[in-house]
Amino acid sequence: MTSDTRFSQEELFWQTRIFDSLSYPSVVIAPDKSVVGANKKFYDTYKLSREDIIGKMCFHIFLYKDTPCNSEDCPISKVLKSKTNHSYTIKHQYKWEERVFSPIFDDRGAVAFVISSIRDITRTKSLENQLIGVKELISRVMYSSASAIVAADRQGNIELMNSVAKELFGDYNGGEGKITHTEQLYPPGKAKEIMKMLRDEKIGSKGKLIIPRTTIVNFKGEEIEVEMSAAIIYDDTGEESATMAIYNDLKDKIKVEKQLKYTQRQLAQSEKMASLGQLAAGVAHEINNPLTGVLFYASLLLEREDLDEGAKEDLSYIVEDANRCKNIVKSLLVYSRSTDTNKNIVQINEIVEQSLKLVRDQKKFRNTKIIRYLADEMMLINADTNKLNQVIINLVINAADAMEGSGKITLNTYKDKLHKKVFLEIKDTGGGIPRENLSKIFDPFFTTKEVGKSTGLGLSIVYGIIEEHGGTISVKKTGAKGTTFVIEFPMYVPREEGPFLCNLAL
Ligand SMILES: Nc1ncnc2c1ncn2[C@@H]1O[C@H](COP(=O)(O)OP(=O)(O)O)[C@@H](O)[C@H]1O
Ligand SMILES: [Mg+2]
Repeated sequence: MTSDTRFSQEELFWQTRIFDSLSYPSVVIAPDKSVVGANKKFYDTYKLSREDIIGKMCFHIFLYKDTPCNSEDCPISKVLKSKTNHSYTIKHQYKWEERVFSPIFDDRGAVAFVISSIRDITRTKSLENQLIGVKELISRVMYSSASAIVAADRQGNIELMNSVAKELFGDYNGGEGKITHTEQLYPPGKAKEIMKMLRDEKIGSKGKLIIPRTTIVNFKGEEIEVEMSAAIIYDDTGEESATMAIYNDLKDKIKVEKQLKYTQRQLAQSEKMASLGQLAAGVAHEINNPLTGVLFYASLLLEREDLDEGAKEDLSYIVEDANRCKNIVKSLLVYSRSTDTNKNIVQINEIVEQSLKLVRDQKKFRNTKIIRYLADEMMLINADTNKLNQVIINLVINAADAMEGSGKITLNTYKDKLHKKVFLEIKDTGGGIPRENLSKIFDPFFTTKEVGKSTGLGLSIVYGIIEEHGGTISVKKTGAKGTTFVIEFPMYVPREEGPFLCNLAL
């Protein structure tokens, strides 16, 4: 450095001392970019001597080049021009350095020199890289998680939602919904309740909460059942800094549970029906013979000429009632599958049309609209036409009864080619079946209709016939708007004839 006449020797001494005592290696550069001095730390750090650097150009020292760098990138040019600090970081021999260039002004405020301090930022850089790595890992873990994750600040403002959460809650910061606050994630008041539980050490451990089943709302306001775990994130001083929650949609689990319950119910139902079937068959067979006797002898008596009118009338009641019993016995035998079956390959739509023809003109259907949506394709089943007519007639009569004379009955057929199933749905606009009756409607003699008007055998016969056809029948939907019964039949698939058979046929 050049000496300055304005400073005493003593001042110059301690100014040099200060320069040498700086903990960062520092170099002073003239505006022409030649190096005019360096402090002790610089010589020690880079193991250089005065001769190695004084009078050399900065690009020799800093960039180890023989030619000046592009003046636009040159930090010294920048400092000279802007009169403020400029810095850059560079990797130099396995070390990261931050080189800060600052102006040294003369009395007139012009930049007389530029001082460059070099800081070893290798450790900071490595920590920074580690942090970036950890951050990236956390973000990758979060975004690849199968659970929905939401993090919010202390005020409940949502800071982060992973893609599963965005999907679960709907359009995040995008559509009309705009979920920005945790209160929007729950039914009213629930967010506060969750925070209260989180802070309560009696529930779980402090700051942690697991709720196996709870309700959240998506941006459309729809409620969704989830399993949830939440936590308060504390900073180093133990202060609450954020909250986070992980949600798992229970939709699939609930579906499986429902399916399981349904299957269990079906199983119990079919076991019950099987034993009732045996009972019905036993009773029907036992009653059938004496009943035939009653009918035979009563009819014989009726033919006698010497009977007075009163006795004849009484006898005709006996015959009438015995015939009713006979019909019930017949129904029981159908239900218990003790009657002959005559199966053929038939188009289900044709059976539907045929059955409707049989009932259409009955008084019961006068104010009833019958609509058919019969799939326009071949839907073959192996069935006893007469028995299936009975099924459809029973179901439409029940539908008409449920509508008390006026309403709409819709018959709908379709198929599931993949699973080789053919479906028939019968839907009415009646008053529905009360929940407590659902498990009883297929039982023989169960009826909610007037005593003497109905036998309560209709659905049990239907059940027996459908079982006989390898199908199932169930109530698909019921409520105040009506009831839908669905019958599922195995689809008849003709065996494909191989080329050998074709040749033979020719
Ligand atoms: N479509 C329907 N809507 C409402 N309830 C129905 C329907 N079908 C059947 N049910 C109920 O199931 C019971 C049993 O039906 P079913 O076995 O045909 O006997 P029944 O018609 O002689 O009463 C009916 O009494 C009624 O309570
Ligand atoms: Mg009935």
